[in-house]
Amino acid sequence: MKKTLLAAALGLTMSCAYAAALPNVAILATGGTIAGVASSNTATTGYTAGAVAIQTLIDAVPAVKEYANVSGEQIVKISSNNLTDDILLKLAKRCNELLKDPKINGIVITHGTDTMEETAYFLNLTVKSKKPVILVGAMRPSTAISADGPMNLLNAVRLAADPNAADRGVMIAMNDQISAGRDATKTNTNHVHTFSSHGLGYLGVIAGGKNHFLRKVEKPHTYQTEFDISKVEKLPRVDIVYTHASADDAMVKAAMAAGAKGIVHAGSGNGSVHGQTEPALAEAVKKGTTVVLSSRTGSGVVNPNMAQYHKAGFIEGQHLNPQKARILLQLALTKTADQEKIKEMFLKY
Ligand code: SIN
Repeated sequence: MKKTLLAAALGLTMSCAYAAALPNVAILATGGTIAGVASSNTATTGYTAGAVAIQTLIDAVPAVKEYANVSGEQIVKISSNNLTDDILLKLAKRCNELLKDPKINGIVITHGTDTMEETAYFLNLTVKSKKPVILVGAMRPSTAISADGPMNLLNAVRLAADPNAADRGVMIAMNDQISAGRDATKTNTNHVHTFSSHGLGYLGVIAGGKNHFLRKVEKPHTYQTEFDISKVEKLPRVDIVYTHASADDAMVKAAMAAGAKGIVHAGSGNGSVHGQTEPALAEAVKKGTTVVLSSRTGSGVVNPNMAQYHKAGFIEGQHLNPQKARILLQLALTKTADQEKIKEMFLKY
């Protein structure tokens, strides 16, 4: 009623008066299946990811305008398997720039699901704001019948516009679920229900058009971290070496030859290293390369394992899967090469 009188007094139409009161959400687009185009509406594989421009995606979901004033900006147009460190830096810097603007209430990033978990964790550690930053994607291309992108985008905008979503770290909104950027990982090649934080569960769910928050992440995030990428032009090279039966030292030697400043070892079980790989990893530490032990199991904590790992200077990757451990190690190496300090960071973040 108040708004009606105000609009009349100002000579505005109702829709203008309401639009002015809406939060402002910036949508940064990077491509992915949410912007994918297939040759037919039944094709859900073999499509071109990242083909549709952001304004077309926004126009396809007019309902977003009921919740926020949205603006679209195309950062890149890629399939996220082609994500690079440069794109991560560009995205984080653009988020920080936008979030400093008092007129911006939140950010949505459209992204391929393949590497969304890496971008989400990177931003979770480098965005310096309490305002919501939400990653969203789709498992079915935009041309598919029952495409999941439009509802995911609507949910993401509603989440970014929600003041209650502030100060929860960077989040992923997919399939009516709200996941922590720190914890969520892609677990299925095809299903729309692909993101899971395994035993840690979801931060919340989106139901009946409302965000229902259920838990918070304990680990420091966004403005609470020590990572400042504002002046970082290049991230240190960190490679992942994946163990398997008969693994040897070839991959570690290749990483070293490529100039790796860090190696994340995706070990078996509790971060175990094949006896044929271990001497090369120990040698890498002696040469100044930081070695972090993660696990290929996909969940669980890598605890201190064999005494000789400790002696060699290998660092436990704690709860992070190899691709997330790689992100943290890259950021850690922008600050220090001191193994004790990096060890603390893996306990902290
Ligand atoms: C991609 O990650 O860009 C392709 C796959 C997807 O978005 O689901």
